[in-house]
Amino acid sequence: MAPIAISDLSDVQDVAQPKKDTLGLPGPTRERLLKAGIDLSNGYPYRPARPLYLQDAFSIRNEPWKHDDAGARADKSKSALFSAATKVTNLTGHIGTEIEGLQLKDLTNQQRDELALLIAERTVVFFRDQDISPQQQKELGEYYGKVEVHPQVPHVPGVEGVTVIWPALQATERAASFRQPGGASRWHTDLVHERQPAGITHLHNDTIPTIGGDTLWASGYSAYEKLSPAFRKIIDGRYGIFKSAHTYLDKNDPNAGPKHIERFHPIVRVHPATGWKSLFVNRAFTKKIVGLDKAESDLLLGYLFDVYEQNVDIQCRFRWTPKTSALWDNRIAIHNASWDYEGGEPRHGTRVTALAEEPYFEADAPSRRQALGLEDLESED
Ligand code: SIN
Repeated sequence: MAPIAISDLSDVQDVAQPKKDTLGLPGPTRERLLKAGIDLSNGYPYRPARPLYLQDAFSIRNEPWKHDDAGARADKSKSALFSAATKVTNLTGHIGTEIEGLQLKDLTNQQRDELALLIAERTVVFFRDQDISPQQQKELGEYYGKVEVHPQVPHVPGVEGVTVIWPALQATERAASFRQPGGASRWHTDLVHERQPAGITHLHNDTIPTIGGDTLWASGYSAYEKLSPAFRKIIDGRYGIFKSAHTYLDKNDPNAGPKHIERFHPIVRVHPATGWKSLFVNRAFTKKIVGLDKAESDLLLGYLFDVYEQNVDIQCRFRWTPKTSALWDNRIAIHNASWDYEGGEPRHGTRVTALAEEPYFEADAPSRRQALGLEDLESED
């Protein structure tokens, strides 16, 4: 056997030590974190130890709680929000609005409620030039629901629930390439395996590549409305199996290999603030429609994914600038982050997700277009 060289030993020691800021924080990120008093002396980000077993991961937040929706109690005119803004611009016909002249950290509770309603109506709302710390981001998330604390995803040290979205870091854990970018670079909805899945997610990107790194969102209301009334009847009231992004070992059958957490939710849901129906499936995490044979389910889900992902008139593509916040409603959206910069320049953000109600379906609820009086534009043939 060859003798162990000194350099080999130092490699072993490196592996045994906790990793400390191995990638090098982008300058604007470091500046923001230090300004917020984040302790970086033990490395960045903080990586919690992951649960090994499926049963332990499943039991996290498995007790129901009452979600009081901020958008549902908002003043419908949204006058407190709009009168304080210098400019409000709808970015496309059906989805996406940008607000100027407001700092998210300074919103009153009335403005926060109205913003939640606007997000429920427009799916995603953007604010550029934000001066917001991870702690303030978490505080806003707590206002909107139960902040999700992920059992294994890296977060900002000392601020549980503020997840680090740093594609360069994610690429060290799951290889990313031009042909297989992976991670957030696919159409998905966050945290659909939760008993009470994600409502409003707030991503603040402090660092953005000079070219690329856009994010796209598609409207679940509009995807549902792209279906014929006859087809809607086929999926209304049906449930799907929704799986987690991460896998765990089954205590009762560890040799079966890693398994996903799975939960059942309606594949058409109603938003509590607008009362409108939305398609609730996504290609990454909706596994099957309950009650159908696999081949039937694959066929229908494949069609629903295509409708949701391929109609450009129900999408919004956003060009980030540093210090921009996007707040979107996962109950009514899928999203996809472009990796066209291929990790060549840093992109870093912090994300807070407020979990909302258990998804529900109401047969009599209108679609968005029905509620807005546009249903006469829908024909069966
Ligand atoms: C996410 O999928 O939540 C992150 C989206 C992004 O990085 O733009």
